[in-house]
Amino acid sequence: MALVRQRSAVAFLIAILQVADATGSCLDAGEDCSLRDAAAEAGMRVGAAMEPSHFSDPDYGPVLALEFDSLTLENSMKWQATEPVQDNFSFAHADAAVAFADANSMTVRGHNLVWAQARVDSTPDWVEAITDPDELRAVLATHVQTVVGRYAGKVDAWDVVNEPLETAGTALFENHFFQVLGPGYIAEAFALAHAADPSATLFLNEVLISNGGPKFDAFLALVTDLLQQGVPIHGVGFQGHYFGPPDPVQLEANLRTFADLGLIVEITELDSLLRPGPDLASRLAVQGDEYFAVARACARVPACARITTWGFTDRYTWIDSFLGPGFAPLPLDVDYNRKPAHTGLRNGMLERIAPTAVPVWSPGWSIVAWLGFSALGTFRLREPGRRDAN
Ligand code: G3I
Repeated sequence: MALVRQRSAVAFLIAILQVADATGSCLDAGEDCSLRDAAAEAGMRVGAAMEPSHFSDPDYGPVLALEFDSLTLENSMKWQATEPVQDNFSFAHADAAVAFADANSMTVRGHNLVWAQARVDSTPDWVEAITDPDELRAVLATHVQTVVGRYAGKVDAWDVVNEPLETAGTALFENHFFQVLGPGYIAEAFALAHAADPSATLFLNEVLISNGGPKFDAFLALVTDLLQQGVPIHGVGFQGHYFGPPDPVQLEANLRTFADLGLIVEITELDSLLRPGPDLASRLAVQGDEYFAVARACARVPACARITTWGFTDRYTWIDSFLGPGFAPLPLDVDYNRKPAHTGLRNGMLERIAPTAVPVWSPGWSIVAWLGFSALGTFRLREPGRRDAN
């Protein structure tokens, strides 16, 4: 009988230790904690933009599923990809990604239904050629109903309209839909998406609204007006492409401003370039600080539901083609090794459940870090982008 009691006591102790380990694992596990585990503990989601064409890389899918609980199609759900020819839909890539997400218990962000800007080709030429309002309205309806309807219940959020404002301005971008349908095209697109999948949360996604200033004010006015019209807009996406250092204090305030309107907020396209510095180690450290500061800003706003990085390994980043190689903007390096940016993103999310006294990072810290590492000498490490970068 004594042996039974002894075994029961041991089993009970093991159970307690397992529970303790499970509840505090990321706070204790440090580097062994995945972004996905950290997000789960923090009560938020973490995602990455991806392209199914990279599944041929044997590490791509496993690392994506290990580190993230959400994915965004970087290009495969854009109009150019899904309906390159009128009424001729192509869903192979999007279906593969949605199936992958389902198999790995991941959510999917649909990106995007309407984006028409001169610098990008996400709207097919055949759409841009339609100048009759009724015809374009019918084409828009068919597209949204077909795409959103196909993934109803499988895509939990849609970027219905991407970048409605001028990139560096405050006016509505006079894209093709604006020119033919007027500014009401935004409300029409949201109404169509909501009718096609009432369960999906619908986002207006914008770039360069993390800092204060006229563009943020204009975007706030636009969203407020849409809400007053009764448009079914549920969330706002802050893209988060940090070509320059973030301002986390302003970012948190801006996230909170939209949260106070009753909206979900998300950081939808996070990447942050390596800053100049004396060596790779210091550049990676500063990048890690920036990821921490951005993630903490989100963690401090309860309505900030998800952080999505725009890609997840430096092996595949749009920055390489947009700005050139070597900026290494993502949490994992070209060999899928976790970088300080991974640490920063992970610890920033955990700030939601275990706030620390780490001072709010500001661009000035970059200067301090740079001066500090310069004083330590120029211990050269390999530049990012090479396969042996660490
Ligand atoms: O698929 C074609 C390929 O067949 C062709 O050979 C090749 C060369 O012309 O182009 C390929 O399409 C490219 C596509 O990416 C897939 O690689 C397009 O030209 C290229 O313009 C497109 O760039 C994407 C860009 O959006 C425009 O759609 C980037 O990968 C993507 O990262 C970027 O993402 C955007 C978000 O959607 C919105 N927020 C800003 C963000 C960065 O611009």
